[in-house]
Order: sequence, then C-alpha cells, then structure tokens
Amino acid sequence: METEDKIKVIIRNSYPYGRNLYFWQKCNARMENSAINGKKIAANKAVEYVRNGMTLGLGTGSTAYWAIRGIGDMVKNGLSVRAIATSIQSEELAREMNIPLVPFTEIDHLDITIDGADEVDPAFNLIKGGGGALLREKIVASATRFYIIIVDETKLVKQLGRFPLPVEVAPFGWELTERRLTALGCTLARRMAGDKPFLTDNQHYILDCSFGTIADPPQLHRQVSDITGVMEDGFFINMANIVIAGSPSGGDARVLAKPQ
Ligand code: 5RP
Repeated sequence: METEDKIKVIIRNSYPYGRNLYFWQKCNARMENSAINGKKIAANKAVEYVRNGMTLGLGTGSTAYWAIRGIGDMVKNGLSVRAIATSIQSEELAREMNIPLVPFTEIDHLDITIDGADEVDPAFNLIKGGGGALLREKIVASATRFYIIIVDETKLVKQLGRFPLPVEVAPFGWELTERRLTALGCTLARRMAGDKPFLTDNQHYILDCSFGTIADPPQLHRQVSDITGVMEDGFFINMANIVIAGSPSGGDARVLAKPQ
C-alpha cells in the first residue's frame, strides 16, 4: 500500500468514525491538499535532534505521526530512548514501533518533545488541540526541556485566530462554561463525533471557540483559563523552543529559533 494510503488507514483506525470525526475530516482535507509532504519533511528534520538515552514526548496528529515513525525507525536501528505519549492514539503507534513507554511515576522531565500545531504566530504563540489531545499535550510540554513544534508551513500565520481555539471542558456544567466563554466574545461549537459529543482521552468535551483574529493571545489565554470548568485551553504560550516548518513543495525544512 502507498504510504499516503497507509497513513490514512492508520489515522482512520486510530480515530474511528464516531470517536473523532472532526480530526479525521481535518486530516483528510489536509492530505488532499498535499500538506502531508510538508509535515513529513518537518518531522524528519525534528528527529535529528533525538539522541541516545533521551526521554521523549510524543505528540499527536498527522505531523507527529511521522516523527513517531521516524523515532521508531531509529529504535529499530539501535537507538535507546524512552517516551511518554500525548494521546492513546500516539501511545498505540509508539507500541507498534517498539518505542519503550514510561509513566510519569518514573520521570519528572522530558528532554525533547516533538508535536504538531494548528497555528503558529511569529512570537511562537500556538493554537493546538485540533486532534483533541491538548490537555495531555500541555502536561507533557510543561515537563519538557526542549519543545519542538513541527508544521507544514501553511500553519505559520501573522496572527492567531483563523483556526478556532479548542477548549477542553468538564462535561459537568458545560453549558455554564459555554456561556462564560461566549461572554469573552467568541462564537462556539461543541465538538461532535457523529451525533454524540466528542470525548477526549480524559473524557472531557471540546468547545471550539472562534474569536476571529486574536490581538493578544497571552491575555485571552489568561481569561479563558480563569473560567471554572475549563480543564485546559489550546493556547501554548511561551513553550516552543523551535518551530520546524516543511513546505508541501519539498526542499529543506526551515528551523525557526524562538524570537527573543
Ligand atoms: C492535536 C494537536 C495537533 O498537534 C494539531 O491539531 C496539528 O495536527 P496535524 O499535525 O494533524 O495537522 O494539537 O491535539
């Protein structure tokens, strides 16, 4: 089977219809416009940072997929690492690739995490959570010494906000949380999987909040996270150390350093 078909099958199996339709549609649309190429180029560059003996964070999504595959190939060739995954989907892929997994009981930091993003602005503010894994992704990112974001270059934007901000909320009282979020000036949709609410790996809901262009991401992040019932939001502020962007038309990946 061609690689592109294979990744579609793997993602479809990992995110069966009814569990994460939103993510599957997103992956499918993205692959149709060939962004898969940019994703793979970025991921291949990122795995060059991996060294023997490291503890790694494994991201989630169709870009992180290529990084996990790349690390798996390195393990096959003798690399010794251990890892924590940011979702059940990535955990399953890591197992399939024979990447040893460790729980947080055994470690208190990760050397490197490689993860994707939905939008990246010039100050390295990120929107993440298109795949619904933002809470685990942020826990892992917060324990990471060197956080590498890999994207196809269409994700590099001047200002965040074209991609709706995913907010993970407790199902209990979510209607109240929704009203409080709406009061911040967004239009909002609860993410669905078929005719049922989409549930994260942590059994929470995702509210996708469209704010339009976001003038001040750190300030909005504070306002959103202050709302009781919000488990985590998709803003990743001041976390990424480098961003690696691949172009769908090929060529070398661009490694962007964190702006000072
Ligand atoms: C999952 C994420 C993903 O990293 C983000 O949605 C990017 O996905 P992809 O690499 O498939 O474009 O945050 O929660």
